[in-house]
Amino acid sequence: MNSTMRIVNTYVEYRENPLGIDVEKPRFSWILEDERRDSFQEAYQIQTAADDEYGHILWDTGRIHSSDSIQIPYGGEPMKSRKRYYYRIKVWNHKWEESEWSKTAWWETAFMDYREWNADWITPEYDFQAPKSACPVMRTEFQLTKKVKKARVYVTAKGVYELRLNGNKVGEDFLTPGWTSYNKRILYQTYDVTKMLQTGNNAIGAVIGSGWYKGELGWRSRRNLYGGREALILELHIIYEDGTSQEILSGPDWTSSYRGPILYAENYHGETYDARLEMPWDISGIEREAWFGVRPMGRMPKDILRAQECECVKIREILRPKALFRTPNGETILDMGQNMTGWIRFRVSGKPGSRVVLTHAEILDTDGNFYVDNLKGAKQRIEYVLKGKGTEVFQPHFTFQGFRYVMIEEFPGEPQIEQFEGLVLYSDMERTGFFSCSDTLLNKLYENVLWSQKGNFLDIPTDCPQRCERLGWTADIQIFAATAAMNMKIPLFLTKWLRDLAAEQFESGGVPWVVPDIYDDTYAYDLAGYTGQSEQVAAAWGDAATICPWTLYQHYGDIRILQEQYDSMKKYVDYIYHQGDNPFCWDTGHQLGDWVALDAPYGSFVGATDTAFVATAYYAYSTRILYQAAEIIGNLKDARDYRQLYEKIRSEFQNKYVRKDGSLSVKTQTAIVLALHFQLVQNEFRQGLADELAAWLERTNYDLITGFVGTPYICHVLTAYGHAATAYRLLLKQDYPSWLYQVTKGATTVWEHLDGLKPDGTLWNPRMNSFNHYAYGSVAEWLYKGVTGISIGEHGAGYRHFQFAPEIGGGINWAETVLTTMYGEIRAFWRRCEDKIDFHLKVPVNTTAEIILPVSQLESIRESGKRPELGNGIHHIKTEGAQIYIHVGSGNYNFECMETK
Ligand code: BGC
Repeated sequence: MNSTMRIVNTYVEYRENPLGIDVEKPRFSWILEDERRDSFQEAYQIQTAADDEYGHILWDTGRIHSSDSIQIPYGGEPMKSRKRYYYRIKVWNHKWEESEWSKTAWWETAFMDYREWNADWITPEYDFQAPKSACPVMRTEFQLTKKVKKARVYVTAKGVYELRLNGNKVGEDFLTPGWTSYNKRILYQTYDVTKMLQTGNNAIGAVIGSGWYKGELGWRSRRNLYGGREALILELHIIYEDGTSQEILSGPDWTSSYRGPILYAENYHGETYDARLEMPWDISGIEREAWFGVRPMGRMPKDILRAQECECVKIREILRPKALFRTPNGETILDMGQNMTGWIRFRVSGKPGSRVVLTHAEILDTDGNFYVDNLKGAKQRIEYVLKGKGTEVFQPHFTFQGFRYVMIEEFPGEPQIEQFEGLVLYSDMERTGFFSCSDTLLNKLYENVLWSQKGNFLDIPTDCPQRCERLGWTADIQIFAATAAMNMKIPLFLTKWLRDLAAEQFESGGVPWVVPDIYDDTYAYDLAGYTGQSEQVAAAWGDAATICPWTLYQHYGDIRILQEQYDSMKKYVDYIYHQGDNPFCWDTGHQLGDWVALDAPYGSFVGATDTAFVATAYYAYSTRILYQAAEIIGNLKDARDYRQLYEKIRSEFQNKYVRKDGSLSVKTQTAIVLALHFQLVQNEFRQGLADELAAWLERTNYDLITGFVGTPYICHVLTAYGHAATAYRLLLKQDYPSWLYQVTKGATTVWEHLDGLKPDGTLWNPRMNSFNHYAYGSVAEWLYKGVTGISIGEHGAGYRHFQFAPEIGGGINWAETVLTTMYGEIRAFWRRCEDKIDFHLKVPVNTTAEIILPVSQLESIRESGKRPELGNGIHHIKTEGAQIYIHVGSGNYNFECMETK
């Protein structure tokens, strides 16, 4: 017991103490620490029990001789519903020293089988005299006579709901149950309400907004996409101290009303709230006359109910406005100093019936006036009518806004800046990545990328959070997934969305443009012109089906996501196989190509790169991912078959697009980037192509002209072929077109177009000009991987093995990344000091790293004043070309390099 190896954190299904999951075999992961270097786990033991004293052990692995410390599936008896399971873990290190037991932790199940739901879906009786768009409330009262030991509520709605119990909001989540493919899957949430109940009379109920379920979606202002009626299903399970229990279920005895204060609420358009209509529906003993009944919806299925699968949306940050000022047009404007997604909360006092009216927008126009044209009809407007009693505090319920500026159209008295705050809403994911360096503009770009992730990770990954779109565009997240996975812990968020992707996949295997899918032929017509096809599938968009699971596998060592999504991945590749006459290329359908690339012909969003080239390149890439996934999950026949398919696609690609002299027949930068990044051209031609790309960029003043498809990979490709200096020129360029151009223009999030705001001060076409679009923010992956040099090594899924190979350059003096991985924290840092460069790396316990230092002689490296030698964590040292490779185990390493080329 004298080992210093400790278990510092444990997780079940990526969470600490998750409440209300229905995963049959939840997986355990733990983080180890040890001050000593080169520390590995040799064995582990997991115990689960019905109590936290471990008096009644349910499952005990015994000592398992394995170095695995993440994603270990539960192997005990099938779990019961609505039960808490405790667990603890111990480990042995490579010297067979035994650790202490980890701190006791737990998970709690929800309904393991949907058939256990006893409650009814209920919907309000319609009240024809109520305001047309009002949000209904459904409620009930009940009596408790005994002392409560434990109480849980399981609840969801068709619409978005806020649940209240005895005068208080239940939980801290907003916009629940989020957006899923509602016809096939609706998630319910679990809350611990033990402390909210009281002896005697109690009241519980929910108010329901239209949300994604029946509110407006897409730019054609269509409503009721999933159904026309709000509905609620709820079970409150109470266990008394004396061991007896009681259940309160939504059912025909509940009552409803449309006469509450929320008169109107829509995601895009905002909320109208008349505080004079507030009624205390969430406390017991209210008058019953004005209340209507509810209708049980007998035929509404329960088999679509699943326990919440990821973090819910919460208020994650609160911002104070930076300024309150008047525009040249005389508008009163609040500047949040940050483009954000969420709400304004305000404090106000005034006469009954006086109003606060706020409109939200992302930018000011060239003259400094309020600008809403790029919202494309999303009104983003909050109207609040005062009840006129003391100080009133308001924040919206069933809407969200993408904004930096707020126009105060009406306000009782003179508004003061202190009366407002910005509530930043996004899914409650842990921040895992931090990057900073000596270049302040680059740091700002990185911050902007983070903010675009926050703004667009509101339950689903969206393209933008402001205009009447806010949809799960598949390419956007496919491009951004790796960056997102470094910035935040996203596996649950993305797994949930991938289940929707699989649910929405067409019979043919094609993947819709957006998930959840809201498009039908009419939308397709808007975008594509009439193509005669009812299913719109495009390369780089549909490939989210393969790339997103693969990204999760790489970053979190999550094999289950590959198993779960495997059919969907395979169906997608098979879909492409069946397009057109030639099964080894993809040259049909309406393709979106290298979206918004600057080499696009005038008036088009589709970049100059031949769309069949893009589609075939992605086809090859997805097929490669598929066969690798098949290998990992042990489907060896598929692995063989799809590898052969991949090879055929690759040779078809070479036949079609690679000329005899090694040049490409498609002459764009994106074409080179894809051909190299997806490794589609013959080895002997690769360096030449990379050189061509570098020379091209040099010739064209390092203009960034690639679109959605080429931009994420361009710096990676340049660095892989020895052109890091060019990558830095591109990255650090400040004039248009470049990443930093928008930073110099004051951007606080990443823009949809590199020239959303043009150098002459005019704005891009308002039809499509979002200032919060993360796609181009995928460059942050290169900040982590290139500038600080941290990347996942081969066979190192989950960062079990990783590389530290910083690209020193660009006039940057120091850079740092801190990354919380499944194994613990990686810290990578380098700094130029006069005649040497210092490198620091922290390698988590149970992992290994390859440190690649840019020096040719081992003599030039010092660790604690000495030349590095084997032993004490260093497993291997080799010199290759102008680099030294040092293979290390866990611990902290500090190297000084005397060569500073
Ligand atoms: C979205 C994009 C998306 C594109 C594809 C746009 O309206 O905002 O990010 O990928 O459409 O057509």
